[in-house]
Amino acid sequence: MANVNAEIGVIGGSGFYSFLEDVTEIQVETPYGAPSDSLFLGEAAGRKVAFLPRHGRGHDLPPHRINYRANLWALRSVGVRQVLGPCAVGGLRPEYGPGTLLVPDQLVDRTKSRAQTYFDGEPRADGVVPKVVHTTFADPYCPAGRSAALKAAQGRAWEAVDGGTMVVIEGPRFSTRAESRWHASAGWSVVGMTGHPEAVLARELALCYTSLALVTDLDAGTETGDGVSHTEVMRVFGEKVGQLREVLFDVVGALPSNGERDCLCTQAHDGWDLGFELP
Ligand code: ADE
Repeated sequence: MANVNAEIGVIGGSGFYSFLEDVTEIQVETPYGAPSDSLFLGEAAGRKVAFLPRHGRGHDLPPHRINYRANLWALRSVGVRQVLGPCAVGGLRPEYGPGTLLVPDQLVDRTKSRAQTYFDGEPRADGVVPKVVHTTFADPYCPAGRSAALKAAQGRAWEAVDGGTMVVIEGPRFSTRAESRWHASAGWSVVGMTGHPEAVLARELALCYTSLALVTDLDAGTETGDGVSHTEVMRVFGEKVGQLREVLFDVVGALPSNGERDCLCTQAHDGWDLGFELP
């Protein structure tokens, strides 16, 4: 079978994988169950890429029901070591209006119900018992991936915001105005629903992870209208998805080869026994 391995993973909305050529669809099972959908393996910018629709191809998984552990595990099991996570977010500052692209350097977790570690000391379905391991996560995103994303956006005449904090809420509802004003007053930049635990699970698997946050709306505390609507989010995302796809294509081409990664993401385990083999 052609193309059953990959070096770079993209987890995003289904509007993204048209940049892949020579696509093979494969189903992957993991010790954590099934990922959101099949993996779509193909080539882009001369690199082998695995695409995974985060919410499933029919967008039928809400953010809190996505099997993030299975998603990252499945990508790693086909050879992926660098992951790009494009996502829609709300802007928490008036200057981060719809159409802004932000490459965050920090993350705040305000989710409530999500499995967010592989290292929970509980036996897995296959009988393996992961150890308890504490992962360094001071800087949640890969510096090499961030820099590639910023350069790629610039190359496409889309000046991305370099850094900022993404706060991740449980969803699926949007924030109240009070929550939104609180998030803004804490100094956070954008708000989304899927950035956590995607980033930390990538780190636990020693994967590089880069978020590309596309602002689709001003969040409730910043805008003056009726509040964020799903329709508006989908409309703006639809308008910008083509541009974001072009940027992703260029980022994929600019990432280092897996063997050349020299960031701290690769040393996430610091020599600890995890109690299981990484896939
Ligand atoms: N995704 C897009 N816009 C959002 C918002 N305002 N809050 C949370 N997630 C979002």
